[in-house]
Amino acid sequence: MKGIILAGGLGSRLRPLTKVTNKHLLPIYDKPMIYYPIETLVKAGIQDIMIVTGGTSAGDFLRLLGNGSEFGLKDIYYTYQEGEGGIADALRLCEHFAEGSRVAVILGDNIIQDDISPYVRKFEQQESGARILLKHVEDPQRFGVPELDGDHIVRIEEKPSEPKSDYAVTGIYMYDQRVFDFIRRLKPSGRGELEITDVNNHYILEGDMQYDILDGWWTDAGTFESLHYANTLIAALQKK
Ligand code: DAU
Repeated sequence: MKGIILAGGLGSRLRPLTKVTNKHLLPIYDKPMIYYPIETLVKAGIQDIMIVTGGTSAGDFLRLLGNGSEFGLKDIYYTYQEGEGGIADALRLCEHFAEGSRVAVILGDNIIQDDISPYVRKFEQQESGARILLKHVEDPQRFGVPELDGDHIVRIEEKPSEPKSDYAVTGIYMYDQRVFDFIRRLKPSGRGELEITDVNNHYILEGDMQYDILDGWWTDAGTFESLHYANTLIAALQKK
């Protein structure tokens, strides 16, 4: 399984913090944000990793991470997303890297307490399709929200004003090689982006989407509140 970290986009919601640097280089307590998704993938045994970056300061990723030896990696692959075409647009750039194998994708601003290894192992045993991780949240309107029917996801809505459940679709997605075909079929959403939620809905329509629910804490860090919250969670963890 190959790993992909999506760290493109312009981080507009965090301006002026992101005016001269990339959101994923901002600190979460004692480390740059990008360290956390890298550690999450490495802990799950994923060694082949591509980072999609974008916006300003893209060269700083190379200066910061080099060839990944600090994380026990032999190499890190990088690519660059022009503009802010959406999460699926960033993922599209990794087709040549994936070379037909399955991928575990994590958003560069997602910080998670759990070791995702058990979910990755379950996905490896899945014959085909996709697997996503859900988390119970207080403010589902901020996220992709699943409508659930027992073990089955009926569909996912992106930032609904009337959410059909109290779960967020976290930014950790596992896909088989069909993901790139589904991305080719996407049309930009109302906010002008290729949405990962639309990719997930393709898998749901094919009846090939599984999910797990996370126990430990999870947060994004893309708004001032969530960035601050991520800092407090990591600070508390480090002090333990
Ligand atoms: O955090 C989980 C949520 O992430 C999901 O519940 C939503 O379904 C999903 O759409 C996404 O929502 P956000 O609106 O919070 O995503 P945001 O635009 O903040 O982008 C999250 C990360 O994705 C960002 O840190 C880097 C990457 N990204 C984003 C865009 C728009 C890119 O690499 N390229 C992009 O063009």
